[in-house]
Amino acid sequence: MAKIQLGVLFGSRSCEREVAIISAVQLMNHVDTEKYDVIPVYISEQGIWYTGAPLRDIKNYTPFNPDMKGVDQVALDITAGSGALIANRPGKGLFGKPSQEVVARLECCVIVMHGLNGEDGTLQGMLELANLPYTSAGVAGSAIGMDKIMMKQFFRGAGTLPCLPDCWFTRSMFQADREAVLDKVEKELGYPVFVKPANLGSSIGVSRADDREGLIDSLELAFDYDRRVLVEKGLDKPIELNCSVLGYDDDVTASPIEMPISGEQFLDFKEKYLAGGGSKGMASLQRVLPAPIEDSLRDEIQRLSCEIFRMLDCKGVVRIDYMFDKTTEKVYITEINTIPGSLAFYLWENAGMKYSQLIDKMVESAMRAHEDRNLRNYAFTSDILKSVSLGGAKGAKGAKGSKGAKL
Ligand SMILES: Nc1ncnc2c1ncn2[C@@H]1O[C@H](COP(=O)(O)OP(=O)(O)O)[C@@H](O)[C@H]1O
Ligand SMILES: [Mg+2]
Repeated sequence: MAKIQLGVLFGSRSCEREVAIISAVQLMNHVDTEKYDVIPVYISEQGIWYTGAPLRDIKNYTPFNPDMKGVDQVALDITAGSGALIANRPGKGLFGKPSQEVVARLECCVIVMHGLNGEDGTLQGMLELANLPYTSAGVAGSAIGMDKIMMKQFFRGAGTLPCLPDCWFTRSMFQADREAVLDKVEKELGYPVFVKPANLGSSIGVSRADDREGLIDSLELAFDYDRRVLVEKGLDKPIELNCSVLGYDDDVTASPIEMPISGEQFLDFKEKYLAGGGSKGMASLQRVLPAPIEDSLRDEIQRLSCEIFRMLDCKGVVRIDYMFDKTTEKVYITEINTIPGSLAFYLWENAGMKYSQLIDKMVESAMRAHEDRNLRNYAFTSDILKSVSLGGAKGAKGAKGSKGAKL
C-alpha cells in the first residue's frame, strides 16, 4: 500500500514556538515509517514556511538557519485538494526564468503548534479551505479552546461544567479606569486571584496576586502579552489533575490521569519544560501517573473530559486540566489544550499505547472527519442567478420594472 504523505506542521508565530518544535521533533521520531512518509513543515518566527529533512533534527534550531542545505522555503497551495508544497527556484544563468517546483504533496496534516497562529483555529481554517485532513479540533473548537475568556463562558454556558468565578478586562478598560478594574476584582472575587492573558499557554504571563499592589503588577504583566485578560478566583495550592482524550465523534476515550507536581506556588514555564535539565517538552514535568486519587474522582474527571471533547467537537488528542480544592473537595476545570504539549503521548503510554499507535489514531480521526466533511451537500443550486437584479444606484435603474430577484 502506498504510504500516506504526512505533513507535520509546527512552530509558527507564537510565544510557544520553541515548545512546539520539541513536541514536533519528538512526534516525527515516533511515526511508523512503514505507513507514512514524514514531511516536516516548519513555520518560522517570521511566519515563513520551510520544508526539508534537516528540520527533523532538534540541533538545527539553535539557531535555525533558513539557508541550510536541504531546506526549501515553500508555500502551501490552498486550492481545495491540492496539498502541494511549492518552492520557488531562481532562474539559471543570466536570463533564466524563475520557476516553481512542487516538492511534496501533503495528504494529511498533523498540527503540532501551541498558542496563537496554529492552535487557535487560524491554521485549521486554512486547512479546511485547502480541503486537507488535519489532526486537531476544528476551527470553532480550536478558537474557543485557545481563548481563556470565551472558553470559560462556553463551559459555564453548558450548565454542568464546574468553573471558578472570574472577570475579564481589555487593555483599554484598564487604561481608562484602573481603579474601577481593581475594585471590580476585589468586590467580585477577593484574593488570591490568578491573572492570565486570554490567548496564551505554558503559564507565560500568568501570575498570582494576593493584594491590590500585586494585582496591578499581574495585570500589567498580562497586558504586555495580550489585549484581553482573565482574572480568576485563586485556589491555594490546589491538586492539579490532567486528563487526555483521544478520538473523534462516537469513538472517544479518556486517558489515565496525571498529577503534576509543583514546588512553587503554581506550575510555571520552568517546571513544565525544564525540570531535570534537558527538556523533553511537557514530558519533562514532574508528575505522579496515574494520580493517587479516589476511583470516583478519576471517573468524574474522565466523564467531564469526554463531555468537553464532544461539546467542542474535538478530534485527535487533547488534554483537559483540572484543579482539586482540598478544602472543599471540589474539582474545577482549569482549561483545555486542544494541542497539548508532547501531544500527551506519555499519558497514552501509561495506558499501554505506543506513541506510534497514538499517531495512527490521530491520523485516523483526521481522515474520518475529512470524509464526513466531504459528505456534506454543497450541491444545492437554484435559478436565482438567472433572474438577478443587483440593486444599488445603477442596478436599480437597470432593474426598473424587472421581476428579477432583489438582493
Ligand atoms: N484559579 C487558580 N487557582 C490556583 N492556581 C491556578 C489557577 N489558575 C491557574 N493556576 C496555576 O497556573 C497554571 C497555569 O494556568 P493555566 O490556566 O493552565 O494557563 P496556561 O494556559 O498558561 O497553562 C496552572 O497549571 C496552575 O498551576
Ligand atoms: Mg495550563
